[in-house]
Formats: sequence, structure tokens, C-alpha cells
Amino acid sequence: MKTLVKLENVSVIYNNRSVLSNINISLKSDHILTLIGPNGAGKSTLVRVILGLLSPSGGKVDRIKGLKIGYVPQNIYIDQTLPITVKGFMNLININKYEDILLALQRVNACHLINLPLQTLSGGEIQRILISRSILNKPQLLVLDEPTQCMDTQGQIAIYDLIDDLRREFSCGVLIVSHDLHLVMAKTNEVICLNNHICCSGSAKSVSQHPEFISMFGLQDIQQLAIYRHHHSNYCEIHKDNHSKKNKEYND
Ligand SMILES: Nc1ncnc2c1ncn2[C@@H]1O[C@H](COP(=O)(O)OP(=O)(O)OP(=O)(O)O)[C@@H](O)[C@H]1O
Ligand SMILES: [Mg+2]
Repeated sequence: MKTLVKLENVSVIYNNRSVLSNINISLKSDHILTLIGPNGAGKSTLVRVILGLLSPSGGKVDRIKGLKIGYVPQNIYIDQTLPITVKGFMNLININKYEDILLALQRVNACHLINLPLQTLSGGEIQRILISRSILNKPQLLVLDEPTQCMDTQGQIAIYDLIDDLRREFSCGVLIVSHDLHLVMAKTNEVICLNNHICCSGSAKSVSQHPEFISMFGLQDIQQLAIYRHHHSNYCEIHKDNHSKKNKEYND
């Protein structure tokens, strides 16, 4: 596994307020890292540092030379009066060959949307288009900031399956940001729980049992935490009952 980006003791201060402190993270090829934390925890700020859009106030960021990053932002603003089709949107940053656009859309089952105005798409369709755009450059690192927000459970599972397929296809590293604890991608190799600093990290299960994680999200939230297992379309639901834990598996 190759280290693509390494952050050492990174800190970010906005208006004399510390938003990130002492962040040490490595993003590696063929490795899925899920970043969770409450609203305002600094997740998107950390993404901006990783992408190189924001210089940290302190610490060090190392990226391999010429690193190709595919990025799915948390929000995009679509001007309702701007006449832009999906194809036009796919060409906004770079002009791409028509066949390449079609291939990228095909990867997310969205070829049929190519000539539609962007404004007419549903939230889930726009998410797919954003993912499709992020793979146009055959990324070595895929960074997705809350790619499943506003989606129902089936929609989230479909996106997680798609991300896992793309990871295998490109052997790329993946960073997924989420503040929704109810469904965490099963193929995740590592979960980092962030609340301005790294509270805990490890496997999804070990993080879910960490005292800082429990005190941050509360038992009620954690009772609903489910880890979707990609294999065999199973779910593993972690139940917390007065800090005791038992696992239940359901076959679809
Ligand atoms: N450009 C900025 N200037 C000043 N403060 C900022 C700026 N960008 C973000 N912040 C503040 O930094 C904190 C972290 O914001 P950030 O967007 O990184 O959180 P987040 O974890 O992504 O939250 P969410 O789950 O709501 O997306 C917030 O309190 C936010 O108000
Ligand atoms: Mg955010």
C-alpha cells in the first residue's frame, strides 16, 4: 500500500478559533478511510487541507508528486437559471472526450442523463453525476464529502457499493466523510472520529465502543449505528444496551 497523502500535526485556526488541531492522518492506495464527526467538527476543513485548497496554520502535508485526486464536494450550488446540461457540467473543469464522458457516466448508470438540464435531476442523480465527474481523471485518491447525504438507506448502500467498485477498478485510496452514523461503509479499513481533534480511530466496531465516541454521539444515536457489510448483502447492526454490545446479522 502506497501512502498518497500524509498529514503531520496539522492545525487550522479560523479567526483565532482552533478548528483542527494535532491531526495525523495517512491516506493510502487501495484503502478506505471514513471520517465521521458532528456538524462543525472540521471534516470539510480537513478535506480542503488534504485537497490542497487550504494551507494549514501549522503542521505538514505531504502529497506524492502529481497525485490525481477525484473530489465529490459536500454541496454544489446549481443556478436554476443557468442552462447547463449534464454533458456541459462534465466539461466545466476540463474539456473531455465525448466517449470518456459516456464511459464515466456508464460507471454510475447515468448515461441516460447526459443531455438533461442539471437543474432537473434529483438529489441522488446529482450525487451520481458528481461521482462520475470525479472519476474522469482516473484518480489515485477519491475524496467524497458526505456523498450519501439526503439519501434513503437503499440509495446509500448503492453509493457505497459503487465507491467500492471504483476503488477496485482504480486501486485508488478513498476518503469518505460522513456525519450520519447510521450507515457506515462496510469495506472501510479505518474510521477516524473527528471533533476538532482526532477523538479515536480504528475499525468501525472499535470506534463505536470508544468512550469518547459514545460521549460525543450519545447512546441513543449509537443504538442506531449499523455497519453495512458488502459481502453477501448482509447488515451487521450494533446494539448498545447499557454499554453491553451484541451483534445481530440479517440476511437480505
Ligand atoms: N472560511 C471559514 N472561515 C471561518 N470559519 C470557518 C470557515 N470555514 C469553516 N469555518 C468554521 O469551521 C468549523 C468547521 O467547519 P467544517 O465545515 O469543516 O465542519 P464540518 O465538520 O464539515 O461540518 P458539517 O458536518 O456541517 O459539514 C465551523 O465552525 C465553521 O463555521
Ligand atoms: Mg462538512
